[in-house]
Amino acid sequence: MLVDALRTVVGSEHVLLDADLRASHETDWTGRFTGTSCAVVRPASTAEVAGVLAACCEARVPVVVQGGKTGLVGGSVPAPVKAESAPVVLLTTRLTELGQVSQTSRQVTVGAGVTLAALTAHARAAGLDFGVDLGARDSATVGGMVATNAGGIRVIRHGSMREQVAGVEAALMDGRVISRLDGLAKDSTGYDIGHLLAGSEGTLAVITRLRLRLVTAEAERAVAMIGVQDTASAVELLAELRAALPGLSAAELCFGPGLALTATNLGVGVPLEGVGGAYVLVEVAGEADPLEDLLVALAAAEQVLDATVASSAAERARLWALREGQTEAISSIGVPLKLDVSVPLDRLAELVDRLPAVVAAIEPAAELVFFGHLAEANLHINVLRAGDHVEAVTEAVLALVAGLRGSISSEHGVGRAKAAWLGLSRSSAEIDVMRSIKTAFDPFGLLNPGVLLS
Ligand code: FAD
Ligand code: MLT
Ligand code: ZN
Repeated sequence: MLVDALRTVVGSEHVLLDADLRASHETDWTGRFTGTSCAVVRPASTAEVAGVLAACCEARVPVVVQGGKTGLVGGSVPAPVKAESAPVVLLTTRLTELGQVSQTSRQVTVGAGVTLAALTAHARAAGLDFGVDLGARDSATVGGMVATNAGGIRVIRHGSMREQVAGVEAALMDGRVISRLDGLAKDSTGYDIGHLLAGSEGTLAVITRLRLRLVTAEAERAVAMIGVQDTASAVELLAELRAALPGLSAAELCFGPGLALTATNLGVGVPLEGVGGAYVLVEVAGEADPLEDLLVALAAAEQVLDATVASSAAERARLWALREGQTEAISSIGVPLKLDVSVPLDRLAELVDRLPAVVAAIEPAAELVFFGHLAEANLHINVLRAGDHVEAVTEAVLALVAGLRGSISSEHGVGRAKAAWLGLSRSSAEIDVMRSIKTAFDPFGLLNPGVLLS
């Protein structure tokens, strides 16, 4: 019996069968994706993860991998299937090892279930920092962030999650373990399986431990919210600031509707209300206070209509809350259709300009709220009240993005939400190779079925 085998591996208290105990693991953060599982299992080590997978493989029972469950494309919750084919949800949140920070290599080995906030605090306690940051930092796990190749607010400075990976340990569906945690700066011995797992969305193997790169801690920060005419001006301003400010560590794009909604949700005022058609939130970091440099750069940039420059940590946090609070503010008024896309930087203004008509042509009652990561031309498109037109709106928006030579997923992954449209961003030859790789790792297709590859 599978349940007995699972109890033997992780202990009875870590095999949740009761529907009430499973429920919170069966619906995603947005509330859009929900499904059925037969059990939720909480292993505490690589060996236990391998044991759970081997038992499920033996029983040919699918497995859905779940970390912090902050994913936004439905990849970490089960699909709505009949009870007899319901998967096991494998929860990684007990994999919480925090290894010693190496000052010489500036690396650390951690469990895949460690949250971003815990990792960052651990690195800072050792006088270093972690290069990736995002709004779900208190719940998102590093394993989930590697599996989705998460981006966040500091990509302009340190890159996405894939770039932070110096080594991976993972369990395969048949229970075998691959482990390369030495963090060698140079290693040319064939296929880099670890990096293949970055962006694999739990479809190839379960990441159990990671060797991660750390960065210099830059304690001093300056933050400003800038009003500009439109998206094209925002892109021009970015080029100016990049040239003027080597310490530029964030450049986020906001618009009036999202800021107003978030300000209402937070009970604060909207800065620069009615100034221009777009807003750029910038942050400059350094070991010395970068405020003066930021002020000089803003004074020199002709795209700046007006700006609010934070003069204290509290003011910096207030400006950031207006950007980071948009996800929750949008979800507070309904279940959004969330489309995370990117286009070449010089096509971003065209995307923003053409979106409203594309969506209104399908659902005139739909409400659009967007914001994003300016430097990567990564737009987060939130459609409220898409009604029965979710698929048609998704199709039209993703086709527009593909027409602009963009990607249907910039940082959130493909998940279940966009698997049917993968062909808009990857060629049939690429998808064939991806399917062959999937079969090599998971011949019975038991890991996260329906995620990434439809
Ligand atoms: P989960 O949701 O649990 O899983 C995500 C995917 O990874 C699933 O397919 C799952 O099966 C797989 N997975 C999880 N753990 C493992 C593992 N150990 N091994 C193999 N596969 C695994 N994302 C960004 O990129 N940038 C942002 O700025 C950002 N901001 C966010 C803000 C908010 C408020 C929220 C709610 C989400 C945000 N996200 C952002 C999305 C989300 O936080 C990321 O996708 C994150 O990487 C998910 O981590 P998780 O541990 O919650 O993963
Ligand atoms: C963000 O940048 O805030 C996130 O990626 C979340 C979202 O898209 O809502
Ligand atoms: Zn984002």
